[in-house]
Amino acid sequence: SVDISTFMKQTGFSTLDTGFVNTAATKSAITYIDGDQGILRYRGYPIEQVAANSTFLETAWLLIYGELPTADELASFDARIRRHTLLHEDLRRFFDALPASAHPMSVLSSAVGALSTFYEDTMDVHDPAKVEIQMIRLLAKLPVIAAYAHKKSLGQAFLYPDNSLSFVDNFLKLNFGTMAEPYVVNPVLSKALERLLILHEDHEQNASTSTVRLVGSTEANMYSSISAGISALYGPLHGGANEAVLKMLAEIRDSGQGVARFVERVKNKEEGVKLMGFGHRVYKNYDPRAKLVKESADEVLAALGVKDELLDIALELEQVALSDEYFISRRLYPNVDFYTGIIYKAMGFPPRMFTVLFAIGRLPGWIAHWREMNLDPSTKIGRPQQLYIGSPARDWPTER
Ligand code: ACO
Repeated sequence: SVDISTFMKQTGFSTLDTGFVNTAATKSAITYIDGDQGILRYRGYPIEQVAANSTFLETAWLLIYGELPTADELASFDARIRRHTLLHEDLRRFFDALPASAHPMSVLSSAVGALSTFYEDTMDVHDPAKVEIQMIRLLAKLPVIAAYAHKKSLGQAFLYPDNSLSFVDNFLKLNFGTMAEPYVVNPVLSKALERLLILHEDHEQNASTSTVRLVGSTEANMYSSISAGISALYGPLHGGANEAVLKMLAEIRDSGQGVARFVERVKNKEEGVKLMGFGHRVYKNYDPRAKLVKESADEVLAALGVKDELLDIALELEQVALSDEYFISRRLYPNVDFYTGIIYKAMGFPPRMFTVLFAIGRLPGWIAHWREMNLDPSTKIGRPQQLYIGSPARDWPTER
């Protein structure tokens, strides 16, 4: 027997698979998805059990190293991350040069890319100690960079990280604390955010993770690879959908057109009208993460005493869509992004921060994939083929 790529090479065949719908680019032992059954597992553990029992950092360890950490391993991982939360003062000042109106996702990818400029130990991607420190720095600093992007957009002073707090509580304080008064973490917000971050930690070869792997396959350092992943996540068809969902729900409310009319417009494929937060390349069943997020939305809104009419619109939209032949026949269900925005909004995050929260959640998955690829001796530089459809060879005109 011979593997397919050798066969294709020997016979001169190529496949054209636009959007990589049927092409596996790698083997991976990190995350398992069965899109027809609506199953998601991290390193074999069902997502429902991970979300109910783990923390963000414990899940990160599991994804990166493949097994659950011992109590000592987790404590030292946590301590190392806390030790690296501070940004270089010059990187802190980097934010001064950016406009306050900048989208925080652009700020995030720029600042993460800039991390390479601050550390000269980034080029040897096969030195395990150097890879380890890049990973720790990213986990420690991305939430701080994200919070500074938020503060910058508000015109508020940056706070320094408080390393006595957990990963999630520190992040909440950096976003919502002020210089003027002490910040007390609301445990309901903390628990809900931890859960949402866990649900986003990995999702195998999605567009941003594939980007991280492709860039990493050139032996670019982890900061540059992850900066590219953040850029891929930004788009509304991927991570940007959480921001787009809220915009869509607000437009339905403000236009007074009603849910049924909006669904008609989606079905008529009106230009630019899609049911954001619905559909998935892999899930042809209810996204298991969406179920958990929906539960969290109910809990958080009830605990905060928030009544959000956008949640009512979302629930109605889901009901109408799930009983409509257009969506049934195409197997379109809510994805993870459909309800997250409602929770983030209730927590006090502006819509432009929603995809940034996704990026913080996804970071361990990106790292795990970068590392898995980097440790695999069979890795090759990613280099897709093309089918050339341009002009045949021709001579430069003698007269013009
Ligand atoms: N609203 C309306 N129709 C849709 C939607 C949607 N959200 N999603 C897919 N369809 C339709 C398509 O128009 C197509 O219909 P057709 O066969 O009549 O042409 C059919 O369903 C199949 O859709 P594809 O575009 O082929 O599906 P694909 O796998 O390429 O796209 C994607 C998946 C990008 C997620 C798509 O469903 C979409 O755009 N959804 C909205 C954006 C979104 O929520 N993105 C977040 C994804 S999850 C994540 O990244 C975390």
